[in-house]
Amino acid sequence: MKARELRQLYLDFFAGKGHTVISGSSLIPQNDPTVLFTTAGMHPLVPFLLGEPHPCGKRLCNVQKCIRTGDIDEVGDASHLTFFEMLGNWSLGDYFKEEAIAWSFEFLTSKDFLGFSPDRLSVTVFEGNDTVPMDAESAAIWTKLGIPAGRIHPLPMKDNWWGPAGQTGPCGPDTEMFIDTGKSACGSGCRPGCRCGKYFEIWNDVFMHYNKDRDGSYAPLKQRNVDTGMGVERTVAMLQGRANVYETELFAPLIAAIEDASGRRMGADAETTRAFRVIADHVRSAAFILGDPQGVVPGNLGQGYVLRRLIRRAVRYCKKLGMKEGSLAPLAGVVADCYSDVYPELVANRAKMSSELAQEESRFEQTLSKGMSEMEKVTGALKAHGQTKISGRVAFRLYDTYGFPLEFTEEIAREQGLDVDRDGFEKAFDAHREVSKQSADRAFKGGLVDNSEMTTRLHTATHLLQKSLRAVLGDHVKQRGSNITAERLRFDFAHPDKMTPEQIAEVERLVNKAIEDDLPVTMESMTVEQARDTGAIALFDAKYGEKVKVYSIGGFSSEVCGGPHVVRTGVLGKFRIQKEESSSAGVRRIRAVLEGGAPVAGGQG
Ligand code: ALA
Repeated sequence: MKARELRQLYLDFFAGKGHTVISGSSLIPQNDPTVLFTTAGMHPLVPFLLGEPHPCGKRLCNVQKCIRTGDIDEVGDASHLTFFEMLGNWSLGDYFKEEAIAWSFEFLTSKDFLGFSPDRLSVTVFEGNDTVPMDAESAAIWTKLGIPAGRIHPLPMKDNWWGPAGQTGPCGPDTEMFIDTGKSACGSGCRPGCRCGKYFEIWNDVFMHYNKDRDGSYAPLKQRNVDTGMGVERTVAMLQGRANVYETELFAPLIAAIEDASGRRMGADAETTRAFRVIADHVRSAAFILGDPQGVVPGNLGQGYVLRRLIRRAVRYCKKLGMKEGSLAPLAGVVADCYSDVYPELVANRAKMSSELAQEESRFEQTLSKGMSEMEKVTGALKAHGQTKISGRVAFRLYDTYGFPLEFTEEIAREQGLDVDRDGFEKAFDAHREVSKQSADRAFKGGLVDNSEMTTRLHTATHLLQKSLRAVLGDHVKQRGSNITAERLRFDFAHPDKMTPEQIAEVERLVNKAIEDDLPVTMESMTVEQARDTGAIALFDAKYGEKVKVYSIGGFSSEVCGGPHVVRTGVLGKFRIQKEESSSAGVRRIRAVLEGGAPVAGGQG
């Protein structure tokens, strides 16, 4: 079975169980400051997991593009990827463990669907701790379905608990499903979760019925949710009897192109294989990020930094294989071809993908050799003095002058048996930021998936801002990104020129006038076509026929959005634009705050 059939079969299966198929979202999260990228299908659904009604109902399923760079060092093994597709089904306060697990089992083992032998299936469940009891219910359901006790493994929170890592927000115990590849066990402790490659984790059912609070306690959520995620690449590898994800049709054209460009063969030896895999993985991720409609380009902050790191790391491995400068851009084209039927945005943004990759590669080339010789001097001097740590100041110089991402310096250091003073690097970075007054958003540190009063207000203010920008600058103004924290809003939009002080003042005046008018905010559910017909502003990444929510603010603005919003604009306080700057080519960025304002008498979702 190919990936294309798997996606369709999954959506059909869950549609048959009463789920509405919804679109996947952008890789760049909207209105969620806690993550740089969409890391799982649940991210865009957080407001609905917290209790807001979803316009498509209580049972949803979709295919979601995800980026996770937390395990970047594992890339090169059989299964870890920085970009992957996740198949997900959700219950928003509807069905729970009994149905979710039974359906997972049915989809995995039924001959009408994936047809894995139940004998190959092992599962894990949450073993419990001082605060939350063991998930005995899930274990009992697996037993009832015929999985023997020896293949149901209770594991601690670090393995079997899902929620945005270390953060506050919806979370809960999970049960993970593994396929035994048939490889022999690496030792007596070999079990699901072991990295030797015997067990391939392909699916995770999360029972989200807790909310982690700021003080670290877990309070029951007002509804019990199910959030599941099945990895497309891993599942396809298992269905096709492959030992790793790179041997599937999702990677084969890319691997062939790297073989052509390098004149080397994947599988020649372990090091070459790893280089092939790292290049293939990183180019694919970079292609998807660059190809995303929300448009991120390489940079030194936030998402742009992650992208830069992926590209530069890929360049480094291309060099290991002896590939010529300029090899990356054509590889991104291979990714676009490979996914053209599923992700047309890759085709639409092909020229941009290719030029950004080529530019970043050449920017890196310009400083790489100088940086490498600097690095050699540094490591040589350290070794001569019997030292093992590269100071934060030096790591920062490599970053600032030679464009070496910190992780890159760390990687080269590791190869030489050295390490890097990360805290010192952060200090040097902060000091530099103070001086250059750079954006404070280098990374969005963990925090609440925040439906607090202030974020609700800022969210409504963002609608007023977008509408006012259109009134002042023209209808070409389109949202390219929105990020709200409890302190401020940040709004990226397509517009070619720097705004004049007069334009900024006029936008502020329009927003403040809409606030003074104390306009009512109302919500209506409708199909995406109806929304378009009413003239509502929308990103329109929803698919044909899909139900969406349209929020109207008096007669002033109307926009497709998930919410939540205030009930009347009068509570917002005074709107002030702090900064207007360039975000990337053709995209401007506004940072704005609300000052004063009355308490929100209950937001609306
Ligand atoms: N959100 C869960 C995961 O990503 C399903 O594993």
